[in-house]
Amino acid sequence: MLDQIKESVKYIKETSKTNTSIGIILGTGLGGLVDEIDIKCTIDYTDIPNFPVSTVEGHHGRLIFGMLGGKEIMAMQGRFHFYEGYGMDQVTFPVRVMKLMGIETLMVSNASGGLNPDFVVGDVMIINDHINMFPTNPLIGKNIDELGPRFPDMSQPYDKALIQKAFEIGKANNIDLKEGVYVGTSGPTFETPAEYRMFRILGADAVGMSTVPEVIVAKHMGMTCFGVSIITDSGVPGEIVEISHEEVQEVAAAAQPKMTLVMKELVAQM
Ligand code: HPA
Repeated sequence: MLDQIKESVKYIKETSKTNTSIGIILGTGLGGLVDEIDIKCTIDYTDIPNFPVSTVEGHHGRLIFGMLGGKEIMAMQGRFHFYEGYGMDQVTFPVRVMKLMGIETLMVSNASGGLNPDFVVGDVMIINDHINMFPTNPLIGKNIDELGPRFPDMSQPYDKALIQKAFEIGKANNIDLKEGVYVGTSGPTFETPAEYRMFRILGADAVGMSTVPEVIVAKHMGMTCFGVSIITDSGVPGEIVEISHEEVQEVAAAAQPKMTLVMKELVAQM
């Protein structure tokens, strides 16, 4: 796998000719951030050796290189979800590529169902910790010692300094930000009422189908992580209503400007 990663890195470096330390995964709710990027170069996933190709509606598949908030960044437009049938190695492959490209800080976004009764649909939650409820862990298997240790520390999965900065940005811009624990689960089913209740009892504030694998792999390699989640529906008892992927996308789109501003400002202050 290390050779595959290196081959991808070589292609991307030669094609993009960029050198940056900030990587962004444009998940649900961050699509609009693309418009804020002064794009220098894009590379379709299909052109990158060894790269998986994304399939889900509402997700494009390309790498974007350019300037955001005065900083050079690299962004993934479209990610690979476990529920699509990709193995964990594929889901997390781009993060490993990012690391070998020199990315030190990984910023991610997603959509999630709210479990904390203080949250309302449309809220933006800064992720301060996560619970891995995927049926597996991306680091299971032979450890790649060149990337990181067999037993990685997880005491600060989401960087405290970046979280604090995000709240300062929120305050300065009149954006109400929530904070909490994200539980990652395989999907593709949304939760039953009993499952939402279980995840709440387990200590989570929001539940979604991504991010955790990428952050585990990023932390394995010593990267600094920051994550935000848009609460697109409620899993709180008494508030649960029928939902669809389309509704999730709609709510995320409406909340997008808040998320975009926070991310852009954070990058600017790095
Ligand atoms: N559950 C899991 N994933 C999600 C949800 C949810 O309620 N909303 C958006 N992504």
